[in-house]
Amino acid sequence: MKLHKPEPHWSGAKPPVIEKSQIPKHVAVVMDGNGRWAKNKGLVRTEGHRAGEAPLFDMVEGAIEIGVKELSAYAFSTENWKRSPEEVKFLMGFNKEVLRRRRDQMNELGVRIRWIGQEKKLWSSVVDELLEAEELTSKNKVLTLNMCVNYGGRAEIVSAAEALARDFKRGKVSKFDEKSFTKYLELPSDVDLFLRSSGEQRLSNFLPWQSAYAELVFMDVLWPDADRRTLWKAIEEYASRNRRFGKA
Ligand code: FPP
Repeated sequence: MKLHKPEPHWSGAKPPVIEKSQIPKHVAVVMDGNGRWAKNKGLVRTEGHRAGEAPLFDMVEGAIEIGVKELSAYAFSTENWKRSPEEVKFLMGFNKEVLRRRRDQMNELGVRIRWIGQEKKLWSSVVDELLEAEELTSKNKVLTLNMCVNYGGRAEIVSAAEALARDFKRGKVSKFDEKSFTKYLELPSDVDLFLRSSGEQRLSNFLPWQSAYAELVFMDVLWPDADRRTLWKAIEEYASRNRRFGKA
């Protein structure tokens, strides 16, 4: 299959010119502010989520254009089950619909979709859709899009600790260190840039282990108003910072 190039942004905007070593490999995005966006417009909250689809997939195209290799999107957290039954139902159905509608486009762009999250409680129809998208795109190499659905960072760490302890007891691993532990996480790759929209300055249990050395960039834009230019602006901020990883 011939790879498609990302569509240019409608505004004609081009990615900023940044040296390759200054481009984050892995970007984590918290897509926050959908509810407030809807409220400002006198709409129901779920309309905010609906308007949140386009920014994510525009960012995927912008990430490819600028050379990001991995994008992790927080689509539904293990805490989101506490929302109203109507909103939970909408988000489950919408995840399913978006995956089905977007998987061919992602495949043509060379995007590998991966599901990161727990199976417990998640609608089986959503799991099926995630697995299908994973299978269809499993060989793609341009960018990995981690769809974090029913994801919680602490739960991920506890499961990894359990699995490592089990293997340690069986003698399958002999070392208990950061490197061996990381292999047991669902998502082992370090986050370079952690981006959150809507002005809130929290991690909200999103990839806490992986983000230990991430640069945190909080943008004031509400998620439905974001697009690839928001990502590029955050990358410019990232590139201007001096990452020392504890060194002097
Ligand atoms: C946070 O905004 C957003 C979510 C909990 C859902 C994320 C879903 C999307 C961005 C829709 C895109 C859909 C898919 C399937 C990728 P919020 O509801 O907490 O907003 P608020 O803080 O203003 O209330």
